[in-house]
Amino acid sequence: MTALKARVVEVVRETAEARSLVLEPAGGDRDRFAYRPGQFLTVRVPSGDGWVARCYSLCSSPATDDRLKVTVKRVAGGVGSNWICDNVAAGDVLEVLRPAGTFTPSSLDADLLLLAGGSGITPVMSILKTCLAAGTGAITLLYANRDERSVIFAGELRALAASHGARLTVVHWLESVQGLPTPAAIRALASPYAGRDAFVCGPGAFMDMAASALSGLGSRVHVERFFSLEGDPFEAGPVPPKGVPVGAAAEIEVEIDGETRTVPWPTSDHLLDALLRAGVDAPFSCREGSCAACACVVVEGEAVMDANTVLDERDLADGLILACQARPVSDRLKVSYDG
Ligand code: FES
Repeated sequence: MTALKARVVEVVRETAEARSLVLEPAGGDRDRFAYRPGQFLTVRVPSGDGWVARCYSLCSSPATDDRLKVTVKRVAGGVGSNWICDNVAAGDVLEVLRPAGTFTPSSLDADLLLLAGGSGITPVMSILKTCLAAGTGAITLLYANRDERSVIFAGELRALAASHGARLTVVHWLESVQGLPTPAAIRALASPYAGRDAFVCGPGAFMDMAASALSGLGSRVHVERFFSLEGDPFEAGPVPPKGVPVGAAAEIEVEIDGETRTVPWPTSDHLLDALLRAGVDAPFSCREGSCAACACVVVEGEAVMDANTVLDERDLADGLILACQARPVSDRLKVSYDG
């Protein structure tokens, strides 16, 4: 069984349009809730007569917070965000998938440039808090919002800036005062931090603008894009693709959660299906090649992907693959989820 149960301990009103859910494992699955800063939870929400799944970034820090927290901002017509903001209360139990995603720094000690627009602050907050608490680098946050009332975590950011001195610089951009941020303005603000790894999350137009503003500054730019899942990952089981006979199998050694397993990987299967069938608790969400929840690193051997709309060339050069889309090329492979 891949789904987890999370109990809502508290619902926090962050702004008029945003609520945070403070969560704790319900049941004995505490280890499966482990996460890295910047990762997200997939939450099952009711829709009509059925269910859909939505992804929400964790804004809590694995270094400082005992409980997990996701912050959800209402979206006009949004099935998941409105259901959560209107219906979820303390004591409720939600079905979730284990935290996942690649929007996470490779080192907590690196100097970072963080850019957030609106509710895009959620994964950025997790990275910021974790690096300040457990790392040594300097962090600059550029945070754009419509107006002062829509700034999520304003008080927490003020307190962090006051307690971390020169290690944290927070620059707010308010549309009500400064107008929409422009590429030239963002580039001017980011230039002193050229070369730092940059993490960008917010509305699509904001991320496109920020990524183009940062190009040429020598920064590796990580963006976190969310989308509505087409299928229901809580329902889908590990089945071979229809119409494709199961043929020869490669052998794959998998490092996950500090343990190593060796399992057969039929050449007709995606890696995720082969792992789930063998009882390996591999992370996933969309199963469509779009979210990177299933990403792992190929340490030995070669695989190909049927689809990929989320990993960029630098990710591929680092050996990342999407398990939900990967098929074996080599007879023997080794992958790791514990990067
Ligand atoms: S599960 Fe989303 S890309 Fe594989």
